[in-house]
Amino acid sequence: MGSESVDSVLPVLGDELPDAVFEAILEQLRARRQFDLGAYKDRCIRRRIAKRLRSSGAADVAAYLKRLAEDDGELDALLATLSIHVSQFFRNPDTFLVLERQILPDLCRRAQAAGRSELRLWSVGCAGGEEPYSLALLVDELQPVGVKIAILATDVSEPVLASAREGLFEPLRLAEVPPAVRARYFTPEGERYRLIERVRAMVRFERHNVMTAAEFPPADLILCRNVLIYFTREEQARILARFAAALPEGGALVLGRAETLTGPERQLFQTEFPVERIYRRTSVAAPVVGAGGGESSPRED
Ligand SMILES: C[S@@+](CC[C@H](N)C(=O)[O-])C[C@H]1O[C@@H](n2cnc3c(N)ncnc32)[C@H](O)[C@@H]1O
Repeated sequence: MGSESVDSVLPVLGDELPDAVFEAILEQLRARRQFDLGAYKDRCIRRRIAKRLRSSGAADVAAYLKRLAEDDGELDALLATLSIHVSQFFRNPDTFLVLERQILPDLCRRAQAAGRSELRLWSVGCAGGEEPYSLALLVDELQPVGVKIAILATDVSEPVLASAREGLFEPLRLAEVPPAVRARYFTPEGERYRLIERVRAMVRFERHNVMTAAEFPPADLILCRNVLIYFTREEQARILARFAAALPEGGALVLGRAETLTGPERQLFQTEFPVERIYRRTSVAAPVVGAGGGESSPRED
């Protein structure tokens, strides 16, 4: 096979990446992109770096490090490989069914009962926008009366956010979109489909690193699906505590199917739909944790 000669000098498995090379790459990402991988699971990251090394066409590890140091494009390509951003409209459709039929109507009622006219939805690790746009499609269909719904979508990766704003999708990403919804909300453009402008305008995209951000915006519903899975247990617990602090009592948290609440953060949330990984914020006070695990001053709201 043609790639064998490359594989023989480049690491085949992530674990074979020498520690010094691994550290040098992490340092480049920290220094030039403010992207700190310290709390990501090591093996997962090493495997991805090895994958990028192999597909970069570099002759050996030293040549790759040299290129990385000189080429911003390579640094971004590496970052994109590290933060896989695979998503789909209505990924795990049952979850969106529960959101549409139970959670969103209930959150609207709660907001109104509390005299609020705005509901805030936050998609964390939004990838190409499929998840927050799915929420926007639900909201557009629900047409809630008396409550304005704001949708914030954040991700650590700027290129991913740029493509999300474009709203142009491969057919594969739309596999779970019912034909009638596709016909109403998407316009074919060549081989791809563009979400209509009115729905795109319902979502605000911003860069936000869930590990290092000084602030977490207040929200009534947080979707953080298939993001925590890459982080260490300690990091997950810290982020979940911050989500709890951002949600009001009764606010909802949705995790990915492979994610769950295990540690002390379990008391901050009550499981409402176990299979769909939908949790409600309890009244238990959230511990005050800041970015990077350090203590921070209490939130002002
Ligand atoms: C597998 S995608 C999940 C997309 C979507 N939530 C879903 O479930 O379909 C993971 C996303 O998390 C983002 N991500 C990784 N680390 C992050 C961090 N520290 N802060 C914010 N987003 C992060 C990646 O850039 C990627 O777009």
